[in-house]
This record gives sequence, C-alpha cells and structure tokens, in this order.
Amino acid sequence: MSNVVIVGAQWGDEGKGKVVDLFTSWADVVVRFQGGANAGHTLVVGGVKTVLHLVPSGVLHPGKKCIIGNGVVVDPEALMEEIDLLKSKGLLGDPTQLVVSENAHVILPYHKRIDAGREKKDAIGTTGRGIGPCYEDKVARRGIRVRDLLKPQSLRARLSARILEANAQIKALGGEKCDLEPLLEWALKLGERMEPYVGDASASVAHEVERGRAVLFEGAQGTLLDIDHGTYPYVTSSNTVAGNAAVGAGLGPTAIDSVIGITKAYTTRVGNGPLPTELFDATGEKLRTVGAEFGATTGRPRRCGWLDALVLRYAARVNGLSGLAITKLDVLTGFEKILVASLSDLREYEELPANARRYVERVEQLVGVETIAVSVGADRAQTIVRKNPFRHT
Ligand code: GDP
Ligand code: IMO
Ligand code: MG
Repeated sequence: MSNVVIVGAQWGDEGKGKVVDLFTSWADVVVRFQGGANAGHTLVVGGVKTVLHLVPSGVLHPGKKCIIGNGVVVDPEALMEEIDLLKSKGLLGDPTQLVVSENAHVILPYHKRIDAGREKKDAIGTTGRGIGPCYEDKVARRGIRVRDLLKPQSLRARLSARILEANAQIKALGGEKCDLEPLLEWALKLGERMEPYVGDASASVAHEVERGRAVLFEGAQGTLLDIDHGTYPYVTSSNTVAGNAAVGAGLGPTAIDSVIGITKAYTTRVGNGPLPTELFDATGEKLRTVGAEFGATTGRPRRCGWLDALVLRYAARVNGLSGLAITKLDVLTGFEKILVASLSDLREYEELPANARRYVERVEQLVGVETIAVSVGADRAQTIVRKNPFRHT
C-alpha cells in the first residue's frame, strides 16, 4: 500500500494537516490536489506551530517531495509568502523539493473582488480567497494558468481579453475595477519568482509512483463541502472527495491504494449552511473554547456540535474510506456526557481510559470503518497510531 489519500470527512478543519505531517514520516511525496489558500492546515512540532495554505503539509520533513497538482487554484502572492516563511525557517532550501503544476489555475485580484462582492448579497460565508470565481473561469475555459505567468506576451493577450468581463462583473457587484498594467506587472513579477518551482506535476507524481515511492495525497476542505456531494450551495467550488485525488494530481485512479478520512471527535463548521448536530448552548461554547475552534485562515469562530455518525457513514461511502483517524479526542475531556480523563500524554491505545476507547469503538461500529489513528493533542507527537496506512495488513 504505497499511495494513500487523506480527506476531511466533515466540513473541513478536521486536523488533516496534522495527520499528513505525521504520516509523511512513512511517505516520500505529498501532493495537494484541489482547493487553494482557502485551506488552513496547522502543524505543531515540538510546540512550534506552522499554518500552511498551499504548500503540502509534508514540507517540514526535509527531502520529502511536495507537489501542488493541476487541480489546485494557486494564489501566487499567498504561495510566495508561504515559501518565504518556510525559507526563513530554514526549510525548502532546495527548490526542487517543491513542484507547482504549470497547469494549475491562478487566482488573480479580480477573483477576490468578485468573491467579496457576491458575499455582500448571498453569503455562503466564503474565505474570501477568490476560490469560486477562479474555478468558474477554469470551467468556462477563460482561466489564467501558472504556465501563462511565465510568458509576458501571451499573458498580456489573455488578461486584456478577460479583464473587461471581470471588471463588468465587479462593477455590477459594486466593487472596484482592476487595471490591466499594474495587474500584468504584478503577475509577471510573481511568475518570475515562482519559476524555479513550476513544472509538470503529473509527470513528477507518475515518476515517483513508478519508482515505488510512497505518495500521500492531501485533501483540503471536507466531504460535506464538496461541490457535488456536499451541502450545496453551501460548499466550496472543488471536489474534495478522494476520487478527485487522481484527477487533481494527473494520475490514474488505479494508483490509489487506500483512503483515510479524518474526523474530529465532534463536529465543527465555519461559514453558512446546515449543521444538523450544532449546539447553540453552553456545551457548544465549551467545545469552541476548549477546542480553540477559530479558523486557521480567517480567524472566524467555528460552529460546534456533537459528532454526526450519519455524516461519517456518508463520507465513508462517497470517499470509499478504508480507515478513519479521529482527532481532538482530548477536547472531550471532562464533558459530562462523554466522560474521559486527561488524554494528551498517552501514546498507546490500551492506555486510553475505557470510556475513550468505548467512544472510538462506537464510532467505528456506527461508521463501519476501522480507526487507524487517534489524536490527543495538536503536536505531531500527541498521536496514537494503531496502524501504519502504508503497510500491508
Ligand atoms: P485542517 O484544516 O484539517 O488541517 O485542520 P486545522 O489546522 O484547520 O484545524 C485543526 C486544529 O486543531 C488546529 O489548530 C490543530 O493544531 C488542532 N489539532 C489537531 N489535532 C488535535 C488534537 O488531537 N487535539 C487538539 N487539542 N488539537 C488538535
Ligand atoms: P481546510 O482545508 C473549513 C468553507 C468556507 C465556506 C465554504 C466556501 O482548512 O479544512 P470558499 O472560500 O472555499 O469558496 O468557501 O467553504 N471552507 C472551509 N471550511 N476548512 C477549510 O479548509 C475551508 N475552505 C473553505 O468557510 O463555508
Ligand atoms: Mg483548516
């Protein structure tokens, strides 16, 4: 089992970043395949916190290859900021560690203005990162791709054509229009900075797979935010489910061996839309406070509720989950209904208090999928791994 997909089984922020960082110890390559800088993936190693939006969560492991696939929408400014931050921490010294697909679509300032303008009327509660408008342009065959940022002549031609329509849209939404020349200058400058990382991501992934290297596919958002299978229209604009790992990385689905769904021990959602188990009382407030449930990208308070087993069963079906990783079990410590002792220092499943184990086993029973890992704290070390997803059973 060498190629494993990690997806969020709920509404995002399940702790995918933490799990991907941990599982990267056994992988050689980590690939992001959809979403963009709407994602906020938090990694904590030895007490030091890093929040990633675009760069795959394997990047803290020197020498492990990180690939941003064609299915991702890349905000060039956010990407370069993130690369600069990682470099300042002594990471990504070798530019060949990161490959950004030349076919990935680019988020431009007008996408963000359209996103913001729409939110004033029919609020989805987006992250404001321009994600929807960029994917719209991709599907409408008028998008700008990473490869275009490297070609000044054709970029001018493409942007001059697109900017008229984009500005008409922005005007209708009451926003401020974008000017061509400063936009071109901005885009080309960032293209130049991105160039060392730009390449054929699909060929890179295929090359690694052919050599028998272990590949981890890192999902962003969560199953219920999927454009087809989520709580439409309160969703993001990409397919977040495991099937899209193949499309968004440029690899055939037969290369994927297993799919791990990440779920919190309870439920959260940021943004608008249905959340059946939402708690509006002091218990919900307590989950938010104890779980520090504030968005890693926007800082918004997350809506909180109990675990929804129906949601997880649905996620098991639409993703074909072969395993679950349950995070933030420690947060339930001391809740009256789910009495569990302090868990954060435990590393063996058998050491968990009986009630905590019963909770995990009940979830497994309800969802019909085995739990391969239980997370009891934000740090990489605070994890009980019951099964290595890369090892054959
Ligand atoms: P992602 O988007 O799925 O990667 O998740 P986020 O990083 O947005 O949100 C998860 C939050 O929970 C982050 O602040 C993590 O540091 C934190 N976290 C992850 N696992 C655990 C855990 O087991 N216990 C606690 N207390 N925090 C955790
Ligand atoms: P990670 O990868 C949680 C939500 C937004 C909004 C909806 C659409 O960190 O789990 P968008 O900006 O994508 O058009 O917003 O999707 N959303 C997320 N919620 N975690 C995320 O990513 C999210 N990315 C988008 O809050 O409801
Ligand atoms: Mg997040």
